[in-house]
Amino acid sequence: MKYLKILGLIILVVATLGLLSGVYINATFPKADPAPALSIVGNEQSVERGRYLANHVAACMDCHSKRDWTFFSGPIVAGSEGSGGEIFNREMGFPGEIFSPNLTPHHIGDWTDGELYRAITTGVAKDGHALFPVMAYHRFGTMPKQDIYDIISYLRTLKPIKNDLPAPVLDFPVSLLNKLGPKPAVHEVRPDSNNKVLYGAYLVNAAGCVDCHSKVDKGAVVKGTEFGGGMEFEQPAGIMRAPNITMHKTSGIGNWTKELFVERFKAYSRGKEVLPKVGKNDLATPMPWTMYAGMKESDLEAIYLFLASLNHQDNQVVTREFNKP
Ligand code: HEC
Ligand code: HEC
Repeated sequence: MKYLKILGLIILVVATLGLLSGVYINATFPKADPAPALSIVGNEQSVERGRYLANHVAACMDCHSKRDWTFFSGPIVAGSEGSGGEIFNREMGFPGEIFSPNLTPHHIGDWTDGELYRAITTGVAKDGHALFPVMAYHRFGTMPKQDIYDIISYLRTLKPIKNDLPAPVLDFPVSLLNKLGPKPAVHEVRPDSNNKVLYGAYLVNAAGCVDCHSKVDKGAVVKGTEFGGGMEFEQPAGIMRAPNITMHKTSGIGNWTKELFVERFKAYSRGKEVLPKVGKNDLATPMPWTMYAGMKESDLEAIYLFLASLNHQDNQVVTREFNKP
């Protein structure tokens, strides 16, 4: 009896502590400084740079637009740029239901530059909620500050599209833990583009290749598996997995030349004209090939040289696994 009483007491104490820490996290996080007072004045050149980054490197427009998933790699529906609407839900393995918000003036018209900057780099929205990290603010917060300013200058030029989206719903306990995510940005300096490997690393960070091309556990990349492939994308027809993109000769892309690599991306730049159709029983690729296809050849070469500088991992990935009929 005595032991039972002690056990009961311990359970009560642990439960109370759990509850209190929940209340504490809920009340005090996300911890974020007020949005900075910024006034970003972009000239034509910075808008162009922002357009390039948002459409072809950081691929903001990939999530924040409507996609036509009846074609390979889901090209953007013309005229929907920035209107938001891509969904991340429980069927896809997400802990809740999260929509990509509208980034046209219809929704962000009354956000200050500082509020946009804070959301993109720190993960705290105008209304104070912590963004779910499918929106990769951790990576964007390490991009050079001027890149983020240029992206904001570009967003300001989007044409307003009326599209109102529901607020995100997260399941417990992620709803609580998610509030611990935001942290201050630590910007890198943009490397010299003549230093191909470093420049490639900078582009790969902005593009988020590692997020998919690694093993992932509870939303985080498993240390030591970076670029060795493995992330899974469940779909009605089966499972798609991101392949090994280290230069291992048999299980990676070690037999690809730089020219082949660049060509493979560039092949998709003609959009729907060259994209295979994706039917109900096919697997769709989440990789935004059509957007990356707009990257400059020299940037794609830098990415190749960065990948070539990494340790080769021997990890054979079965990219497409169809459900048995
Ligand atoms: C992989 C998909 C994805 C990519 C890529 C992405 N976002 Fe997001 N973004 C989201 C989602 C989903 C949310 C909503 C998160 C939430 O509210 O929890 C979001 C939220 C935001 C918000 C806050 C809007 C609001 O109403 O709260 C801004 C601003 C934003 N993104 C800008 C960007 C910019 C700029 C880029 C590129 C540098 C970018 N996003 C890249 C998916 C993405
Ligand atoms: C949203 C997830 C995602 C992102 C982001 C992503 N990829 Fe992929 N990638 C995939 C998947 C899944 C495949 C396999 C299906 C296909 O070929 O599209 C793939 C295929 C590839 C292939 C073909 C490899 C082969 O063996 O055929 C290369 C090369 C590649 N990715 C490189 C990259 C690079 C470089 C980046 C960053 C600039 C990147 N990927 C970003 C998911 C992603």
